[in-house]
Amino acid sequence: MITTNGLTKVYQSRDREVTALDGVDLHVREGEVYGVIGQSGAGKSSLIRCVNLLERPTAGTVTVDGVDLTALAGNGRRANKALREARSRIGMVFQHFNLLSSRTVQANVELPLEILGVSGKERTRKALELLDLVGLGDKAKAYPQQLSGGQKQRVGIARALAGDPKVLLSDEATSALDPETTRSILQLLRDLNQQLGLTVLLITHEMDVVKTICDSAALMKKGKIVESGTVSELLATPGSELAHELFPVGGTASAPDHTVVDITFHGAAAGQPVISQLARTYNIDISILGAAMDTVGGRQIGRMRIELPGRFEENVVPIGFLREQGLQVDVVDPNAATSIPAQLVKEGAK
Ligand SMILES: Nc1ncnc2c1ncn2[C@@H]1O[C@H](COP(=O)(O)OP(=O)(O)OP(=O)(O)O)[C@@H](O)[C@H]1O
Ligand SMILES: [Mg+2]
Repeated sequence: MITTNGLTKVYQSRDREVTALDGVDLHVREGEVYGVIGQSGAGKSSLIRCVNLLERPTAGTVTVDGVDLTALAGNGRRANKALREARSRIGMVFQHFNLLSSRTVQANVELPLEILGVSGKERTRKALELLDLVGLGDKAKAYPQQLSGGQKQRVGIARALAGDPKVLLSDEATSALDPETTRSILQLLRDLNQQLGLTVLLITHEMDVVKTICDSAALMKKGKIVESGTVSELLATPGSELAHELFPVGGTASAPDHTVVDITFHGAAAGQPVISQLARTYNIDISILGAAMDTVGGRQIGRMRIELPGRFEENVVPIGFLREQGLQVDVVDPNAATSIPAQLVKEGAK
C-alpha cells in the first residue's frame, strides 16, 4: 500500500548538508499497522513527511495505493491538483494536534472538506459522522481549548479521516499524552484500522506503542532502515535489536563455565512446559535469569533467558532438544552479554 524506493532526503542549510533519509526502502502492506521506531534525529519525521510529499524527496520514489506520488509532484515547488487529490487520500495525525483554536471541533473536521470543495450540508453530515466514530459526538460545538489532550487528538484523527483516506500517517500522535490516554488513542487507531481497513503508518520512539498495535515494525538509524519485518519475523531473527527491545531480557552467567541462552516462544510453543521437560529429560538444574511474556496481535509471545550448567560444548544436546520443540534458541555470547543494545526509549516527548 505504501512503498518507497531509495528514498533520500538531504536538507541544505547555509553552511552544511544533513542527510535525513539515506536510501529508505519501505514496504507497508494493505491493512496493516506499521510502526517506525528510532532515536531522535533518526529521520522518522522526514520519512513520514516525504511519504505524503509534504517534503520533497531529494531522490527516490514514493508510491501510495498504486500512485507514484513523486511522479505526480513533478518539478514545481507548489503541489499541483493531481498531487493535492492524491494527498487527500492520505490522512495525517500530528503530535501537537494542529487544531485551529478559532474554529469549533466540527469546523476543524470540516476544514479539509472545504478545501476539497464539498458542499456545506455534506460537510456537516460527514463531520458529525466522523466525530461520532471517534467518540466525540457531543463535542461538535466545543472549541479545542475546552478539550483534553486525548479529545484533541480524537478531533485530529476525525479531521485526518475527512477525505476517506486509505492510509493514515501518524507522527508521534500519542507522545504528548499520558499513558492511559495513549492506550485509548492506540485502541482507536486499531479499531479504525480494523473497521475501515485503514492502513496505518506510525512513527514513534516508544516501544510500547509498537508492542500494543503494530503488525510490523522497522528500526531507523541515521536515515536508514536497519531492521524491518512483522513482529513475529523480528522475534525470529537472531540478534534482532527490535526483538530485544520488544522483549527485553537481561541477566549474565553466574559462573564462567555456564551457558546462557535466550529462548523465544511463539504460538503453540508458548503453552508447552518445555523448561521442566528439559530439566527432567537431561537431569540438569536450570536457572531463569529473565523473562518477558506478552500478547502481540492476539498471539502469546515471549522470551526467556536461562542458564545451563556447563560450557556450550556440553550443552549441545539440551539446546538441540529446545530447538526440536520448535523454539528459537540463541546462545548468548558471554562477552557480548554485557553489551545489550542501548535503550531506544528516550524519556518523554520533545
Ligand atoms: N527542515 C530541516 N532543515 C534542516 N535539517 C533538518 C530539517 N528537518 C530535519 N532536519 C534534520 O534531519 C535529521 C532527521 O530529522 P527528523 O526530524 O526526521 O528526525 P526524527 O527521527 O523525527 O527525530 P525526533 O524523534 O526528534 O522527532 C536531523 O538531523 C534533523 O536535524
Ligand atoms: Mg520527529
